[in-house]
Amino acid sequence: MTIQQRFTNMTPRHFTSLLDLSSEELRQIIHRAIALKNNRDKDYQPLKGQVLAMIFEKSSTRTRISFETGMVHFGGSALFLSPRDTQLGRGEPLQDSAKVISSMVDGIMLRTNKHETVTTFAMHSSVPVINGLTDLEHPCQLLADMQTYFEFRGDIKGKTVTWIGDGNNMCHSYIHAAKLLGFKLNIASPKGYYPLAEYTDSAKDSVSLFNSALEAAKNSDLIVTDVWASMGQEEEQKLREVAFKDYQINADIMKVANSDALFMHCLPAHRGEEVTAEVIDGPQSVIFPEAENRLHAQKALLEFLLV
Ligand code: CP
Ligand code: NVA
Repeated sequence: MTIQQRFTNMTPRHFTSLLDLSSEELRQIIHRAIALKNNRDKDYQPLKGQVLAMIFEKSSTRTRISFETGMVHFGGSALFLSPRDTQLGRGEPLQDSAKVISSMVDGIMLRTNKHETVTTFAMHSSVPVINGLTDLEHPCQLLADMQTYFEFRGDIKGKTVTWIGDGNNMCHSYIHAAKLLGFKLNIASPKGYYPLAEYTDSAKDSVSLFNSALEAAKNSDLIVTDVWASMGQEEEQKLREVAFKDYQINADIMKVANSDALFMHCLPAHRGEEVTAEVIDGPQSVIFPEAENRLHAQKALLEFLLV
């Protein structure tokens, strides 16, 4: 074995993007998440003694609680690290931080402003690195969303999903999911807010862009949206309210979708902005199982990466 091969063999599996998984691996994690949810065995503690470091540059409710609880369910523990309280916030180089932190823990989950922070960490970490949301992608949320679709409607292959709103981190990860799981993804965004071309160009067979939300939603099996201003874009809120006013999910949108279409939102949501209360609190909405599934899907991910 050459030194290069030995090094390659020692490189841990990371989850910086949904595309770090093959289609088969993604389906395997989804099915495992469903099984873990339905048959919780408190004696199953495959991560006993293991520690997950969680670095949050941005706020979180679901991501923090689900990873921390998931580690405890599996017999391990999690450290909440805020850059405010660590040397990361005082400019310690990412490479040094990644080497040091990974020498003491078994996995590292990061929620960062810049996607590059997560990929740089992965490059220098000796343990698996998980993307808990960046400016460009939110792959953990897609594990939960896909688990939720599979639970309610079965495999999503061949179905039509419509994303309405900002072409943001969530939208980019939906593009990856469409590629991996074989669904058609319609995206309706105002001009200037489409997903980045590097994402849409890599999924031309799966993605169609629209400027009309109603057109995009026709015959859809799943309607998805997210906030109009993501974390870090708070100052653009007013500007975005104007730009996105025709991109709200409301009863008219749900009417043109298939009658058994589901509605999802990663949360937190702003009722009356990107979605009406009637839709998000209505019978087609599955937002709460979707949120709960962050726990189950990430347990399946932790098992896949760390056991
Ligand atoms: N959906 C999601 O990632 O929620 P949090 O920001 O609360 O973690
Ligand atoms: N697009 C949102 C998702 C929050 C979970 C954000 O980045 O703030």
